[in-house]
Amino acid sequence: MSNPSLLILAGDGIGPEVMNEVKKIIGWYGEKRDLAFDVEEDLVGGAAYDAHGTPLTDATMERAQNADAVLLGAVGGPKYDTLDFSVKPERGLLRLRKEMDLFSNLRPAQCFDALADFSSLKREVVAGLDIMIVRELTSGVYFGEPRGIHKEGNERVGINTQRYTESEIARVARSAFELARRRNNKVCSMEKANVMESGVLWRQVVTEIHEAEYPDVELSHMYADAGAMQLCRWPKQFDVIVTDNLFGDLLSDAAAMLTGSLGMLPSASLGAPMANGRPKALYEPVHGSAPDIAGQGKANPIACILSFAMALRYSFDNGDEATRLEQAVEKVLADGKRTADLLGPEGGTPISTAEMGDAIIAALDASI
Ligand code: IPM
Ligand code: MG
Repeated sequence: MSNPSLLILAGDGIGPEVMNEVKKIIGWYGEKRDLAFDVEEDLVGGAAYDAHGTPLTDATMERAQNADAVLLGAVGGPKYDTLDFSVKPERGLLRLRKEMDLFSNLRPAQCFDALADFSSLKREVVAGLDIMIVRELTSGVYFGEPRGIHKEGNERVGINTQRYTESEIARVARSAFELARRRNNKVCSMEKANVMESGVLWRQVVTEIHEAEYPDVELSHMYADAGAMQLCRWPKQFDVIVTDNLFGDLLSDAAAMLTGSLGMLPSASLGAPMANGRPKALYEPVHGSAPDIAGQGKANPIACILSFAMALRYSFDNGDEATRLEQAVEKVLADGKRTADLLGPEGGTPISTAEMGDAIIAALDASI
């Protein structure tokens, strides 16, 4: 049997640096756990634009469709700010999400005990936090038509459209309910049904799926603005949050910061099962390309490494090895190892991106 395939798209900014550490971890699994992957690499975002004049070539898209899982670093940077919308680095990522139909974006926000004091919230509010945001990723205002900037009379008008079909809402709701059953069995659905028709439909469909298929799961609804407030007030009230593309973008950044640093948060973007039973999947850190620190060895590779742990769990059905990797990260943090983003107000000496990767490998070695 051939090894499962991974397509690595490191992208821009700190993407290549943090992905380097993931490559070491992938190598470790091949060598020490007899878990080898066939790894290919390609370009996305600004890096692809520089080489090919497009943020994602058709050939790369094709490779992504055929890989067992895609690992992505980050896209974007100030250098590309003035490019036309259609070739901006972000379009490469959006095309992958759309064409692979990765409708369910899992963004866990977990607070490692060693970092509870780094949150902007009080320790007791965040210690032990473990919530999962399920963000719809292929529709809504990110993709709705009509869109654009046009002239109306003598002024310009900018338009985007929030649009959701019933089936789009139903499939992401199912994925949230399924996850909740494997966690603490609670789902909170967030929209703006008080002002948006798409929100009214969202609430109706989530309620129907709940009644028909998941009555054993506890379901609640919140307006997304109140949800943002509750996330800051008492995040531990949540287990799984399911929400649309734009609200999910905002709420997941807020949730990420609860945990102390954006440099910690992984994500999985999942679609329908492929012929081999594995879901279409792309794994990426929630943080962006951080151009201000790119190329300096300062970036925290943990979000990207934990994204690979999610790949082990959700694509390769290997929860045990995913847990091993997560525990290695926890161990390294408990030992006081910190990249610059994880230094509290009292300071200290940060370790580099590569040193963090090496420390995690040492912890993995110690675990076998
Ligand atoms: C994210 C990012 C992306 C988004 C950008 C880079 C297109 O913010 O994954 O959260 O808005 O979805
Ligand atoms: Mg975002």
